[in-house]
Parts: sequence; structure tokens; C-alpha cells
Amino acid sequence: MACCPSLPEAGFAPLHHAAWCLRLHARMLAHGLPHYERAVAARKRRLFGPLRGNIAEIGPGAGVNLNYYSPAVQWTGVEPNPCLHPLLERKAAAAGLRGARIHLGVAETLPFAGASLDAVTSTLVLCTVRDLGQALQEIGRVLKPGGRFVFIEHIAEPESRWRAAAQRLVRPLWEAVFDGCQPHRDIGAALAAAGFAQIEATFFRAPLPLVGPHLAGYAVR
Ligand SMILES: C[S@@+](CC[C@H](N)C(=O)[O-])C[C@H]1O[C@@H](n2cnc3c(N)ncnc32)[C@H](O)[C@@H]1O
Repeated sequence: MACCPSLPEAGFAPLHHAAWCLRLHARMLAHGLPHYERAVAARKRRLFGPLRGNIAEIGPGAGVNLNYYSPAVQWTGVEPNPCLHPLLERKAAAAGLRGARIHLGVAETLPFAGASLDAVTSTLVLCTVRDLGQALQEIGRVLKPGGRFVFIEHIAEPESRWRAAAQRLVRPLWEAVFDGCQPHRDIGAALAAAGFAQIEATFFRAPLPLVGPHLAGYAVR
């Protein structure tokens, strides 16, 4: 994967990772998880297909969601790993998203005016953001009244004490290998505390070890 022509060799804001680490994470994401994507495809079609207007996707990664949007949307990705930007540009063009833009940035400080977006989307990102509360506040700030935050996220194991304990046990290694991903985050509780007017979310299990429990749906500003 050719990438990051201007990337400094060590330490890079906003993620503060070494350049080799950013490249490695980009390669892992570009490789993807085809069996997982097949399992969530119908949900993605239902959630992302009807969206219109100005949309920001936080942490779009390798662009696995781009084909689900209507070509009529104005899409902006906010992706802190610059190694993924060339791939995102190519995939957005291939998906017919004309005028797609990609910002180097993080969900905790979004580069949009208040109440300016029709929707914000996120898949498998809230587990990784450094400050989950701040990211959700930012999402609420940039959404228009009635705008939607649409998400598919893995969450803390809610049903089995043993699997919940396993999520906590593996956390340090998991975080180190998967770019800061926290397998045990209570994302449902964070969403409930974030001040959205309405939340519609469904629990399901995806075919992934340890991070199978998922929440998919939307929150309305
Ligand atoms: C597990 S990947 C998910 C990528 C993609 N959304 C998907 O479903 O395959 C997490 C993504 O979030 C990005 N990320 C990490 N910290 C972030 C932050 N604070 N704000 C926005 N994106 C972030 C990573 O660079 C990566 O692209």
C-alpha cells in the first residue's frame, strides 16, 4: 500500500503514533474482515442508504462504508491516520461520491460549524476514540436539530459475566494490537448520557471473537 509521502518518521499528531505504527494499522484495515462485512451488510444498507445531505463519517478507515451511501450525499471523512487517505480518496471516487472530502482530524474536535450536518456516521470507532464523552458532545454539536448520529459499534459484553471478564482481561494486549480499541467500553451508557433527543438501537452479535456484542442504530439530536 503506497502511502504517507509526507508522514514524519516518528510521533504524529493527532494520534501520536510512530509512522511505522500508522502504516501497520492502515495495512490491517485495508486487508479488512470480509466475513464480518458480509454479516453487517444488510444493517449498513438499511442505516446508511436513506441518508441525504451533508454527512461526516468519523474514522472511516479503509472506506468499508462508502458503497452504502447514496451518490447524492456530500460526504466528508474525518480520519486521523493519514496513511488511509489515498485509499479513501480512491474508494470514494469509485463509489461515485463526487466532492468527497477527507480531513486529518479526530472525532473529539470536529472541523465543522455547529448545527451544520444532516448526519454523522461511525462504525467500530467509538471503542477507539480517546475521549468518548467529548466525541459524542462534538457529534451532537455539529448535527442540525433532527440530524442523526448513525452507528454500528461493538460494546461491553452485557449477557455473560465470563465473557465480560475476558474482555477486561485481554484489554491491555487488545489495545496495543488494535490501535487503542477497548473491547469492554459501555457505549450504550455513554450514548444515553450524551443528551440526544431520541435513541433507536438494536443489540446483535457479530461473528468476532471477544467483541461480538454490537449495538446498531441511530441517535437523533
Ligand atoms: C477499527 S477502525 C474502523 C474503521 C472503519 N470505520 C470500519 O468500520 O472498518 C477505527 C478507525 O478509527 C480511527 N480513529 C482512531 N481514533 C480516532 C478518533 N479519535 N477520531 C476519529 N477516528 C479515530 C482509526 O484511524 C481507524 O480508521
